[in-house]
Amino acid sequence: MPAHTLGMHAAHGTEVLKINPAAPAPAALERAAEVLRRGGLVAFPTETVYGLGAHALDATAVARIYTAKGRPATNPVIVHVADAATAHALAAAWPPMAERMAQAWWPGPLTMVLPRAACVPEIVAAGGGTVGLRMPNHPVALALLRTARLPVAAPSANRSSELSPTRAEHVLAVLAGRVDLILDGGPCSAGIESTVVDLTTTPPRVLRPGPINPADLERLLGPVTRPSRANLPALASAPLPSPGLLARHYAPRTPTICVEGSAAAQVHALAAQGRKVGWLILEFNAAAAAAGTIQVELPGNPAACASALYDALHKLDAAGLDCIVAELPPETDAWLAVRDRLLRAAAK
Ligand code: TXA
Ligand code: MG
Repeated sequence: MPAHTLGMHAAHGTEVLKINPAAPAPAALERAAEVLRRGGLVAFPTETVYGLGAHALDATAVARIYTAKGRPATNPVIVHVADAATAHALAAAWPPMAERMAQAWWPGPLTMVLPRAACVPEIVAAGGGTVGLRMPNHPVALALLRTARLPVAAPSANRSSELSPTRAEHVLAVLAGRVDLILDGGPCSAGIESTVVDLTTTPPRVLRPGPINPADLERLLGPVTRPSRANLPALASAPLPSPGLLARHYAPRTPTICVEGSAAAQVHALAAQGRKVGWLILEFNAAAAAAGTIQVELPGNPAACASALYDALHKLDAAGLDCIVAELPPETDAWLAVRDRLLRAAAK
């Protein structure tokens, strides 16, 4: 069977190929590798979220990522590698901490920011002197990297500032016609983006909280600089989104507010005004149904909650609601990344 008959070609020109994560079919991997080698874009599953991948050493291919996402040229992209040896080749320095972190967490949801080697095109780094490197822990992502034998630049496969995709359907909904091929390997397990750690500063600095939390990092590395609270949007107190301190990110299109603890009072008040409300309930908060609301319960465990978070937000966002009300988990290390994503979803 010729490779081009493998997938579904829709009118928009994006091919979707189902791929079994337990046994990724070599023909599908080879097809995706071909697209990458010729400078095209492939969306693929990782354990965190779907990535929008291009040949990382081909500046023209990487430029296509920025166009497809509508991403500002000032925001650098992460390079995905199949092994630590490839990471060494892309970094101008590989400090002992990088080695310890790679041994502890790769493959896994950790991106290390290191000095950029000359072979990495400037566009990958948005003109800066560093490069973000990650070895993903997903059988399809790893098999693709090994088949293509290329480092793959890949931000999350969403339009800039919108919700990240944890299913192939989420990718297709916003990038149909903007990506050559989508490998559909089912839902992502971790569900939120990798922890990004800058190793060019002393102590290392957490740029983006993620599945590996600051306490995990400190057990291995000693003190790290935690993400600044000043970088987080302020919490809305009124039942409408308040202006955030930072540009919104990871955000649904439906106006979203965050509430500390149970949101029952706010949800009932909005429902009484005739608003259609989506209520993201944390399992450990009591929830009494309100008329006109759609309730989605999220697990009371940080990893399970992160895994379900974006899928829940995508569902609520597609439900034609007036607003989404999300309950914030406690301000602890374990919940840091989920809180961060919810606050950013609610920023204006
Ligand atoms: O889990 C993930 O990291 C997913 C999957 C696909 O691997 N990727 C992802 O990429 O979330 P993206 O581009 O959506 O987010 C990457 C983050 C951005 O906040 C970007 O600014 C930061 O990492 N970043 C990338 N390279 C950097 C660098 N050289 N210096 C500082 N920050 C960097
Ligand atoms: Mg992203």
